[in-house]
Amino acid sequence: MAIAQIYPSLLAADFARIADAALVVEGRADWLHVDVMDYHFVPNLAFSGDTVTALRSVTDIPLDCHLMIEDPDRWAPGFAERGAANVTIHAEAVDNLPATTAAIRAEGARTGLAVKPATPVEHYLDDLHRFDLLLLMTIDPGFGGQKFMDSVLPKIEAARRLLDERDLDLWLQIDGGVNAETIERAAAAGVDVFVAGTAVYGAADPAAAVEALRAQALR
Ligand code: DX5
Ligand code: ZN
Repeated sequence: MAIAQIYPSLLAADFARIADAALVVEGRADWLHVDVMDYHFVPNLAFSGDTVTALRSVTDIPLDCHLMIEDPDRWAPGFAERGAANVTIHAEAVDNLPATTAAIRAEGARTGLAVKPATPVEHYLDDLHRFDLLLLMTIDPGFGGQKFMDSVLPKIEAARRLLDERDLDLWLQIDGGVNAETIERAAAAGVDVFVAGTAVYGAADPAAAVEALRAQALR
């Protein structure tokens, strides 16, 4: 049974009012999704370790950091140290996967493995046990507001089967283009955790949008 967690992505919030964006979904959103970009791994720049520290001072809502950066081996543990509840690294960027995941977990955080739409999960089968979450990108990472890639649905279904068959206790997360129209078929494919930027912060009432998305995922 899917658990249907909704993580609003602050990338879609008003950057002049990030604290308000966190607080407006408090009590409704399960966690908050914080995108970290470095102009290298993706052609955009967003958020940093200082954002995590600043958010920690205004809210207790757990922070899910999605690192779209080069050299996550060097930088990821610092996000855990600053209080992120989960730190997700991209498979395409990580060098020493065992050491980096161990360093994140040593700081008391959960850790996630992210793959771009074109990156097969099969390449990482022997490493999945090192993670608490598997993020299948449903857009090419870098920007919010893109269209959900239906072509990723078979990959989601296959990943769901794989996790169940191998008894791997990872949450299956998607990120990109999640909205009222796309969330039902993603839920049917076996997603546990939905990241939603535009669908939450582009709505007149972000808290209500979170509730509506969860209800649709559970239908
Ligand atoms: C993009 C980010 C996403 C982004 C999703 O690379 O990782 O988290 O905020 O935005 P929407 O939900 O608008 O597609
Ligand atoms: Zn993201």
